[in-house]
Formats: sequence, C-alpha cells, structure tokens
Amino acid sequence: MWGVLADIGRFLRFRHHEALIVTLDEGLGPHTAPMGVEYVEARLLIRPYVNTKTFHNLGVNPEVSLNFTQDSRYFFEALLKPDRLRYRIGRCGRVPVIEGDFDLYIEGRVNLVDLSGGRGVFVVQVSEAYEGPGSRLAFSRANNALLEALVYYTKVKAVVREGFEGEVSDYLGLIKSNLNLMRRIGGKELVSMADELEDVVKGLVGGALRRG
Ligand SMILES: Cc1cc2nc3c(=O)[nH]c(=O)nc-3n(C[C@H](O)[C@H](O)[C@H](O)COP(=O)(O)O)c2cc1C
Repeated sequence: MWGVLADIGRFLRFRHHEALIVTLDEGLGPHTAPMGVEYVEARLLIRPYVNTKTFHNLGVNPEVSLNFTQDSRYFFEALLKPDRLRYRIGRCGRVPVIEGDFDLYIEGRVNLVDLSGGRGVFVVQVSEAYEGPGSRLAFSRANNALLEALVYYTKVKAVVREGFEGEVSDYLGLIKSNLNLMRRIGGKELVSMADELEDVVKGLVGGALRRG
C-alpha cells in the first residue's frame, strides 16, 4: 500500500516525535534505529550520537527513511529483535521503508549542520512523504510505558558501555516503573515484551533490576 501524499506539519505538530530511522551500511544492507525527529520551522532535524551505527552509515550514504508509528512494538523490535522487521522498497528506490502499521513515511537526504555534544545534527531534505496504512492503535499508557522503558534501556546500555556504573540507578528506577505499568495495565503481548526487556537489562547490569 503506497498511501497518499502526507501533510508533514500536521503529523509532526508536537515538534519532537519518535521515528524508526533506516540507513544503509557499506554493503547497502538496511539498519534501523529508534531516534527522535524534530520538526521546527518547516525543517526536519535528526540527532544521532556520533558513536551510533546510524551516524556512521550517514557518513557513508546520506540517505534515510523515517518511519513513524504509534505502536511501540516496532521500537522494541528495532532494538531487541531486528530480524523481525520487514522492509520494502521505498518510493526513491534506495533506502527501504519498514512494512507494517505505520502512519507516515518520509524519505530524503541528510546534510550535517552541526557536530557538538557528541551528536551530529542533520537536516533531512524531504524527497517523498506519504501515509502508510496507519497505526490503528488507540492511545495507551502501557504502549507509552514500553517506549519510555526502551529510551532508558538505551541510556543504560550507553552508560555501561562507557563504564560509568554509578549513573545507571536513576535509569533503572525509571525502567522498573515503566515495566510495572506495562504489566499492570498492558495486554499479553506487552507483558511478554516487559519480561524480555527486563531480562536484557538484567543481562547488562546484573541483578540490579528487581520486580516490585
Ligand atoms: C524512542 C527513542 C528515541 C531515541 N532517540 C535517539 C536520538 O535522537 N539519537 C540517538 O543517537 N539515539 C537515540 N536513541 C537511542 C538509539 O536508538 C540507540 O542507542 C541505538 O541502539 C543506537 O543506534 P545505532 O543502532 O544506530 O547504533 C533513542 C532510543 C529510543 C528508544
């Protein structure tokens, strides 16, 4: 399904949104990472940390697809089960887009406009913007809790990688309360993602994350 031309300003009216960003590696294989997208004064900005594969790939090939959905399951898959993501050719024919319950696809080229604080700031020049089949998902706190838990999981991962063990405890507290919310009000699928995410976090930091 190709969808209609999208009104980016309406989709991204809350300024900072989350997307799955697909880039191409040296072998032209797709790589997907959850990243924030800022829409400000009709400009689209992304800010990958310089130590991410996304930043590296953009240096090799400055093309992206931005895949927007309300369904946090795709963010979980991108980080924990990347083999589950299914791709199809995008309209520009180079960087693929992700198949599934997506609201908006944007394809374009990036220009690096700033490099400070460990991040690259890229402006995305839009080549194509079109609607997907849609998330078909009502607002859900448990779904939001999964996204929040994933954000703090990536922060814990980065801190552990850099060796600053003392800093993880605040993030672990936030992960724990979001996992608890998912278990309290989420359906089976979310509960099992909470269990999987908890195991991965425990693998990173030992037994520091206990259920409460
Ligand atoms: C919702 C969400 C938003 C994120 N936003 C960013 C971001 O804007 N920039 C960034 O470098 N990492 C961000 N991250 C963390 C990256 O997704 C994570 O570190 C990823 O593993 C790094 O990307 P890579 O696979 O390209 O190395 C975000 C994670 C989540 C769950």
